Amino acid sequence: MSDAPENEITPEAVTAAAEAAVAAIAAASDSAELKAARQAHVAEGSPLARLNARMRDVPADRKAEFGKLVGQARGQVTQALAARETALAEAELAAKLEGERVDITAVPQRTRVGARHPLTLLQEQIGDIFVGMGWEIAEGPELEHEWFNFDALNVDPDHPARQMQDTFYVDPVERHLVLRTQTSPVQMRTMLSRDVPIYVISPGRVYRTDEFDATHLPVFTQFEGLVVDKGITMAHLKGTLDHVAKQLFGAEAKTRFRANFFPFTEPSAELDLWHPTFKGGARWIEWGGCGMVNPNVLRAAGLDPEVYSGFAFGMGVERTLMFRSDVQDMRDMAEGDVRFSEQFGMVV
Ligand code: DAH
Repeated sequence: MSDAPENEITPEAVTAAAEAAVAAIAAASDSAELKAARQAHVAEGSPLARLNARMRDVPADRKAEFGKLVGQARGQVTQALAARETALAEAELAAKLEGERVDITAVPQRTRVGARHPLTLLQEQIGDIFVGMGWEIAEGPELEHEWFNFDALNVDPDHPARQMQDTFYVDPVERHLVLRTQTSPVQMRTMLSRDVPIYVISPGRVYRTDEFDATHLPVFTQFEGLVVDKGITMAHLKGTLDHVAKQLFGAEAKTRFRANFFPFTEPSAELDLWHPTFKGGARWIEWGGCGMVNPNVLRAAGLDPEVYSGFAFGMGVERTLMFRSDVQDMRDMAEGDVRFSEQFGMVV
């Protein structure tokens, strides 16, 4: 080893070597750079180590002084090294953790939740309105006997609705089974199975050999109402339907009757509904049929028309949904696209 001046041990050289070491340590931005700084400034062969080796050249009377100087310098560098090591390890760990972080707030969406169908929701809501008035829900089969669907309702054998073009007859014809064309057969089933007074609402699916277009579906939904009690008048019918219209469409809704004919009611009326915000402006639209239960129907059910009277009505749920939610095309209600249903949320 030569005695080059830079290796000569002087307080300045010791301080300079220590400062260079501390600066290199501070500048290390990761553990690899820190390792290099240690190699260059602390390890054997580094300026500080070489200066330390030169202690042997220091005259005996100054050994203590230089020893202290070099010792302090090495202590300072060791401390800086340890501190930097800890800081870098912490930073590297933090970066690693951040990189591996899992966002536990994000809910995995493995299956689509879907949505309830607006027709189902509306049927339930209609049911709720009547249940709120103390009525009961009644049910009947979709595969119905011709007698319940027509005869018991005073529909004579020549009525056009009985012809093949309107009604789905089910094989074999001798069994006289049809897919019910209306919910009205539930009227007779109810009168035969329950005691008077009767206050029932019956929502359900009906079938007709109709086209599948914007305003017709071969399978659709109706809700049928039937009341049989003593002293029932058409005023009760009007009051009930008016209340239901307001419940479904809001306080501004109005109803009116137009004289009409149905075999199972006498007198009968077409029910119209008015609302200021209907598509196309404030106007009357046809909503359903209604009337006072025909005495022939009461008699067929074994009830005395001199003692009991009643009213009945039937409305389409699809039409109700169309007016209520401005649905333009009924086919949207039949196609089962969840994006249609989702627009209605959980309430209609
Ligand atoms: N069932 C009839 C139809 O499908 C609607 C109807 C009219 C029902 C008058 C009734 C009623 O209960 O009284 O067109």
